[in-house]
Amino acid sequence: MKTAIATNNLTKIYTEGKNEVTAVSGVSLALKEGEVVGLLGPSGSGKTTLLSMLGCILRPTSGTLSVYDNRVEHLDEQDLPVIRKKYLSFIFQGFNLFPALTAYENVMLALSLKGFSENDASVRATNLLTEVGLSERMHFLPRDLSGGQKQRVAVARALASGSQVILADEPTGNLDHINGRKVMELLKKLSVEQSKCVIVATHDNRINDLFDRILYMQDGTIIKEDRRQE
Ligand SMILES: Nc1ncnc2c1ncn2[C@@H]1O[C@H](COP(=O)(O)OP(=O)(O)OP(=O)(O)O)[C@@H](O)[C@H]1O
Ligand SMILES: [Mg+2]
Repeated sequence: MKTAIATNNLTKIYTEGKNEVTAVSGVSLALKEGEVVGLLGPSGSGKTTLLSMLGCILRPTSGTLSVYDNRVEHLDEQDLPVIRKKYLSFIFQGFNLFPALTAYENVMLALSLKGFSENDASVRATNLLTEVGLSERMHFLPRDLSGGQKQRVAVARALASGSQVILADEPTGNLDHINGRKVMELLKKLSVEQSKCVIVATHDNRINDLFDRILYMQDGTIIKEDRRQE
């Protein structure tokens, strides 16, 4: 399987006035197509920071980052969106839905931005919202959806674009056990059937069995890696 994302000594130092916080320190890893990777670790260990760099949302302070063999650590605000659009989908820790748009319109918007025609976008949006169990609520505004339903809209939106890499920050954080598993099983299915590379930051130990590999973070570094025994 192809390597989707690779890093070498990836580091992020936040500076606030005279204070420096090393949020991620010297992380080297390779994520391949067709694998679902869990990123576990205590609050503040650097999961969101690492995921944001891998998702080309946050620029590293040092180290290298490649997305499908494109070196991206030096790219600026003009070029990064090109890489994001081509390869990456992000499911945020909050939902980041547009409040004035219905579930369906939120997914449609993401598809239009990716360049899908109106017809193709409509079919894809409807199929995905049905797949995450929202066929009945497609035309509701976010304020009329529960937390779990909003989260599933965010998942459908991320999947709609068809990106080969899905980065998810606590995608089951606001869901009960059953719906949380459903979301993870959907991500797993996409990885198995379409060789997507999926990386999930989570505190939810109940979904560990769905990961092919688990990376444990502490104080900005990966301290341990578990691979599922085949
Ligand atoms: N924008 C920022 N400016 C300064 N420090 C930050 C910023 N974002 C995060 N940090 C710090 O970097 C460290 C890592 O934070 P990060 O959000 O990556 O952790 P996390 O593992 O995702 O935590 P959680 O499980 O609570 O979501 C923390 O010490 C945090 O306070
Ligand atoms: Mg976080």
